[in-house]
Amino acid sequence: MTNTEGTVAGCGVIRIRSVATPGEGELSFFETGRDIDFEIKRIYYIYGVPEGICRGFHAHKELKQLLFCPYGEIRLILDNGTVREEITLNDPSIGVVIDKPTWREMLWLKKDSALCVAASELYKEEDYIRDYGEFLKYVGQEKNESL
Ligand code: TYD
Repeated sequence: MTNTEGTVAGCGVIRIRSVATPGEGELSFFETGRDIDFEIKRIYYIYGVPEGICRGFHAHKELKQLLFCPYGEIRLILDNGTVREEITLNDPSIGVVIDKPTWREMLWLKKDSALCVAASELYKEEDYIRDYGEFLKYVGQEKNESL
């Protein structure tokens, strides 16, 4: 992965490539194989969320995702079962790659903020873990299997 800016709960933070046109704003882009390690099969975005609302409260078993906030300010709270860390997304050129089972909560710090997600798989409810206790068990089992 290129342009890694650190990690949050084991998830990579990347600087998304951006082109500035003086006086005319910026354009950001990412490409499979160059910026992210997975093929993108689905893009979704969450918007119209009132300030102070927290969404998410789930993890995925297999899904890989790149999350970014093209407008506004959203706090992303990530928990890999061992550490819980957060990052405030308020820069459209910053992305977070979640490529292993990670519990996530997203807090809207500003009204009208948008959260965009590029995902490796089509929507599949069976890939979700929506119970935190189950998530801890799942990552615990995964750790044991890899011993
Ligand atoms: P969910 O992923 O639970 O959103 P959040 O964690 O932000 O609250 O999705 C909310 C609803 O949207 C849920 O009923 C599933 C549906 N959904 C789809 O049908 N397709 C999709 O690609 C996504 C991401 C969600």
